[in-house]
Amino acid sequence: MTQHSAGATAAFSVADLTLEEKASLTSGGSFWSTKSVARAGIPEVLLADGPHGLRLQAGSEDNLGLAESLPATCYPPAVGLGSSWDVDLVHAVGAALGAEASIAGVGVVLGPGINIKRSALCGRNFEYFSEDPVVSGALGAASVRGIQSQGVGASVKHFAANNKEDDRLRSSSEVAERPLREIYLRPFHRVVVDAEPWTVMCSYNRINGLYASENPWLLTQVLRDDWGFGGVVVSDWGAVNDRVAGLAAGMDLEMPATGGHTDAEIVAAVRGGFVDESILDRTADRLLELVRKVQAGAGSAAGPFDVKAHHDIARDAAARSIVLLKNDDRMLPLAPNASVAVIGPFAQTPRFQGGGSSKTNPTRMDNAIDAIREHAGESGATFAAGFLVEDDDTDRDAELRAEAVSLAASKDVAVVFLGLTDADESEGYDRTHIDLSSKQLQLLDAVLAVNPRTIVVLSNGSVVALPFKDRVPAIVEAWLLGQAGGSAIADVLYGVVNPSAKLAETIPLRLQDSPAYLDFDVDNGLIRYSEGLFVGYRWYDARGLDVAYPFGHGLSYTSFEYGQPVAAVTASGDVDVRVTVTNTGERTGREVVQVYTSLPGSSVQRPPRELKAFAIAEISPGSSHEFVMTVRRADLAYWNAAAQRWIVEGGEYVFEVGASSRDIRSSIPFALDGDSFEPAITRESTLAEALAHPTAGPALRSVLAMEEAPGGPSMGGADQIAGIMGDFPLGRFARIAGESLKPEVLDPIIDSTRAG
Ligand code: GLC
Repeated sequence: MTQHSAGATAAFSVADLTLEEKASLTSGGSFWSTKSVARAGIPEVLLADGPHGLRLQAGSEDNLGLAESLPATCYPPAVGLGSSWDVDLVHAVGAALGAEASIAGVGVVLGPGINIKRSALCGRNFEYFSEDPVVSGALGAASVRGIQSQGVGASVKHFAANNKEDDRLRSSSEVAERPLREIYLRPFHRVVVDAEPWTVMCSYNRINGLYASENPWLLTQVLRDDWGFGGVVVSDWGAVNDRVAGLAAGMDLEMPATGGHTDAEIVAAVRGGFVDESILDRTADRLLELVRKVQAGAGSAAGPFDVKAHHDIARDAAARSIVLLKNDDRMLPLAPNASVAVIGPFAQTPRFQGGGSSKTNPTRMDNAIDAIREHAGESGATFAAGFLVEDDDTDRDAELRAEAVSLAASKDVAVVFLGLTDADESEGYDRTHIDLSSKQLQLLDAVLAVNPRTIVVLSNGSVVALPFKDRVPAIVEAWLLGQAGGSAIADVLYGVVNPSAKLAETIPLRLQDSPAYLDFDVDNGLIRYSEGLFVGYRWYDARGLDVAYPFGHGLSYTSFEYGQPVAAVTASGDVDVRVTVTNTGERTGREVVQVYTSLPGSSVQRPPRELKAFAIAEISPGSSHEFVMTVRRADLAYWNAAAQRWIVEGGEYVFEVGASSRDIRSSIPFALDGDSFEPAITRESTLAEALAHPTAGPALRSVLAMEEAPGGPSMGGADQIAGIMGDFPLGRFARIAGESLKPEVLDPIIDSTRAG
């Protein structure tokens, strides 16, 4: 393992290196490290997964979590942390992960993953935060800041539009520019601006036909020119298709090692004049800067790390990732003296993380049944498996079901653990449906029949359909929670922790209702993002569809009352929204307050509401807390593809403050000045657009001898023509308008509309 001397940064520079040495830096020296250049005193850098726990392999190496890795704390995967909506919590988990990485001599942690959950079918949703770009960006930035606070780099991934697993190394994500910028790139933009990640990992897939690993628009124009990213772009493992094209596009480090073959391709391309050496120098300089950062940060965390303390961080984070979906008749928290039937194998053998490269070898493992017994006393809680997780043995399943039903009938309460398995979801492949297995649903029905006081606890990396939601009095969405999840679930069930998590993704009633239902599969190599901007709650709101539980939903053991919000523009042009929330219940609780915005009458297509800010705070009973949430002006902008720029429209916005996207507690009108923007007129602009333009309009009217009544355009003339021929492209209209719009007349009018 590479140990860097703390703080030392050798005085090496690109100028000292030969062409071959520079090229050698652009690909891995092994499966997990960069190359060193001994002659120049340049050390190698060790990279290691993963987003929710260190996966450092000491023996055989793979990027799919197959071979053993060294013990490390397994924190809640992003599907859990995403539900916490807690920037400080995610930062703390990142810092703990970063500390373990630093102690192990790792220079870059390969995480967080912040891809948007476009469909519940994505096998890797467990590794991502949300269906929403603001939640994904804010929590992704917190994770990066946390990791990097320990002198270790992060690698925000997978850049970009990698929203499914099947055929991920070849398929092309076909995304229109507005949703690409406003939904799929926005989280990365926020992370780059807010957290300055040392590296960005480019994804396997193509985007609109071009591999991410050789896409100059993505890796240079957007990432560096538009956003100002100054770090290193590292490929996903095996994502490089054309190494020379990748170098030119801004893809700096190919991983894993290719035995120097692609280095030689780069040398030949430079020697052959196909790539200017300055392009290679640019990449080599970035890579040397990364080495310097790693050297400077080395040894920041003193080892060994405190296993118990990190386990406790994981437990606290897990508890705050648990969403209380339903709690009729205050079924929860459980009374300590209640006799409990704990049913389902996940209570004994937790499914605590997803399959693939993020797989961590946990230092400890809590299970729910042991933790529940601690609360309920030995006689209070009795376990029954209820079904076989992986195997399907009808007879054995029937026996287990009968035992569980008999147990449930004899207890005050039944807690039934249901969920998904590694066979259902993982990195590397997608789901084919969102249903729990029929035998699990059969077990639940049988238990309900003998004991209506039944609580369902779910263990799943992505949403599942809840056909039983109206028949079960309480439902706890416990996602995948890492090594301390079992204790955390018991902490919530018994009220040691008051649940505060909220859904960061919609739970639909049916898969058929979901945005990507018709276009999730690869069709001739293409994945069509036909839903455009309408991802997640944006879709269900725009279509007026009912859902099982909406984005932002989550209950508490206490209750909160929201005051009237006020909004004001700040000196920086953002909008601060203030609202006071009172805890009207009997116990302390955390509340996540959400701010959604919309612009009725917008000149462009917009979802009914979009989350633009959120905050969380703990409030004691009877107390109040003033939440101050900043809606960034940049987040109100839409992407104007014609003008190739962001534009904030002026107008009367609606700001909604809510406890979920469908529990809006108040809304206020808010007038905002827009960007001064008049699109340039071209020969492709329509006549109507040109007549509406502040400078082109009057010029055209006078040229076409279109009289305007004193109070404005006459009903004849301009408006009559515009009504009939308004959709004519100006250039073609000019051809039939004859002499009045000959080129020497029209061109100056067009030129006058070009900004400065
Ligand atoms: C994997 C994953 C990526 C991971 C890398 C190294 O294929 O896509 O997230 O960091 O390879 O394991």
